Amino acid sequence: MTSTTTPIEAVRLPDPYPFYATLVAERPFAYDEALGAWVAADASAVRAVLGSDALRVRPPAEPVPAGIDGTAAGEVFGDLVRMTDGTTQGRLKAVVVDALTRADTGHAARLAREFTREALAAGGEVPYEELMFAVPARVVASLGGLTDGADREAARAIGDFVQCIPANATPAQQDAAATAAARLRELLAPGLTERGDGLLAELVRAADRASWPHRAPLLSNAVGFLSQTYDATAGLIGNTLVALARGATVAAPADIEALVREVVRHDAPIQNTRRFAAEPFVHADAKVEPGGQVLVLLAAANRDPAVNPDPHALHPGRVNPTVFTFGASAHRCPGEALAVALATAVVTELLAAGFSPSTFPSTPVYRPLANARIPLI
Ligand code: HEM
Repeated sequence: MTSTTTPIEAVRLPDPYPFYATLVAERPFAYDEALGAWVAADASAVRAVLGSDALRVRPPAEPVPAGIDGTAAGEVFGDLVRMTDGTTQGRLKAVVVDALTRADTGHAARLAREFTREALAAGGEVPYEELMFAVPARVVASLGGLTDGADREAARAIGDFVQCIPANATPAQQDAAATAAARLRELLAPGLTERGDGLLAELVRAADRASWPHRAPLLSNAVGFLSQTYDATAGLIGNTLVALARGATVAAPADIEALVREVVRHDAPIQNTRRFAAEPFVHADAKVEPGGQVLVLLAAANRDPAVNPDPHALHPGRVNPTVFTFGASAHRCPGEALAVALATAVVTELLAAGFSPSTFPSTPVYRPLANARIPLI
């Protein structure tokens, strides 16, 4: 850690956790002049921020980033339950949760193992990037009914789409995202029918059960399943491989899921998220005025000793850990079971194929991202 570390740079430090621990102990909810934002670091502040209706997922004056407004990427973005708040979001979120709860995680895991074997079949260097990014995205695309190469195309397109999400996306990235969003809608649209056992059919049936009449937001949120999977699951697979490279052991295949679940807490693939004050928000003796921003350090709160004993130790099989990596309250991630199943399947297949953890870097360089912690291999 250096004195110039910021909570954004921390995401890609070899070891951001001493820095986070200092924030938890000394500045659990404080204004950061350099960032121009409030920073919530301890479990109490993170829980309060994520649970507040005064704080929104987008700046109220810019619900869709200006650079993609009016494009297919903007239309998708503006429909995502992840990027909207309020009553309509609540209704659509219930549909999304209903559909994802019915996703067959066993089938997803089998597909992830099959795609991992396929990726390894070429021999030579382990294709880590493909295993981390393409395999989970292909599985979710397959659950959405895309097969015969369309799953691969969707996995590539979603890599382009996610580039428009960071606030500092360039015009070229926004253009590529718009093209990708249009193509992804085209690919996924035929799956939006009541029949079938895929994820899109589950979405349609869940919408019918909830008397939700609009089809376009279902399609957008199907694209959202891919985008929410992409970086986050890549980070979970990568950070689990880092834990193995640092000496974590798995005596039996069943231990792999316990390791993945503890990596979720210990070395969170999504380290932070943001909120924007639409109304005053008060926590402890601090007040965020409307227009203020809050950076929510999920990864710091996971290691708050007030909620997890011995928080810096990696203890697979921890009993009732408190984990913020999948968020909390209205925007809590509905993809946790799927993400854990995918990461467990990829790592299981890799170990079964004779992967030696010592060949993976134990102190990797991380991708230059503001919220996802993903080793650069
Ligand atoms: C390791 C993998 C994953 C991590 C760490 C993760 C983390 C998160 C977090 C932190 C949020 C909430 C963000 C916020 O409140 O600002 C979220 C939302 C969401 N995630 Fe995940 N996610 C993962 C995988 C997935 C997968 C595989 C899916 C589905 C296929 C998914 C679907 C969603 C959706 C639909 C939302 C929006 C929920 C809402 O805003 O109401 N996620 N995720």
